[in-house]
Amino acid sequence: MPCHVAIVMDGNGRWASQRGLARSEGHRRGKDSVRAVVEAARELGIPYLTLFAFSHENWHRPGAEVRFLMQLLHRYLTTELKRMMKREIRVVALGDVERLPAPVRRALERTVAATAENRGMTVALALSYGGRQEIVKAARRLAAAAAAGRISPDQIDEATVANELTVGGIPDPDLLIRTSGEIRISNFFLFQLAYTELYFTETLWPDFRERDLLAALAAYQARQRRFGALDGATAAPLSAAN
Ligand code: FPP
Repeated sequence: MPCHVAIVMDGNGRWASQRGLARSEGHRRGKDSVRAVVEAARELGIPYLTLFAFSHENWHRPGAEVRFLMQLLHRYLTTELKRMMKREIRVVALGDVERLPAPVRRALERTVAATAENRGMTVALALSYGGRQEIVKAARRLAAAAAAGRISPDQIDEATVANELTVGGIPDPDLLIRTSGEIRISNFFLFQLAYTELYFTETLWPDFRERDLLAALAAYQARQRRFGALDGATAAPLSAAN
């Protein structure tokens, strides 16, 4: 079982337009998928689940759509809290959350604080999140620490950088799922995905349910992860001699 599954939830708009509905209906139904997948992951014992819920670039969508997504997020954070507590789910947030409208930020802070001691599973919500922006911020903090003499530049290693990026000691994702047939990373977890297994499915996010998560997990379990090294099965001798 992967320790950390990250999901790029894509295809809400297409799901709606295929049915002649407004894009907002796709997002609304996408919220049901979020609930279903969080609960399935909890049942399956996956320790960390990250959901890419709103990207740095999503701010460029029409104002009405951004407002709708923010309302949906607000509703999700307030109505799901009881279920999160019951299932011992800890919620953390990644991204420039200070850009979120004040009511959403407050609801997020309340949920994060209320669930902080839960140990059943961690759900990380990537909100106003961009991988490049996260790396830039980390570089700035490390440069400031070096300029102030608190660290020396040669002390900066992979672990130091990773520490500046992650929230709450979340390990790198083992599996990344992207729905809707798009085969790209779209500025998500650029540093953290170095050795992540990638899984792309045609299923649109509003249709994604437990069975789709199980299919992704089965595909993951059939992969051989070598992290750039060799394992017993593939390690034929380099040359034929002896
Ligand atoms: C991508 O679909 C999805 C989003 C930009 C937002 C994701 C939001 C949700 C799943 C619902 C609410 C989330 C939470 C955590 C409650 P798209 O609009 O880009 O679809 P398209 O590519 O088909 O247009």
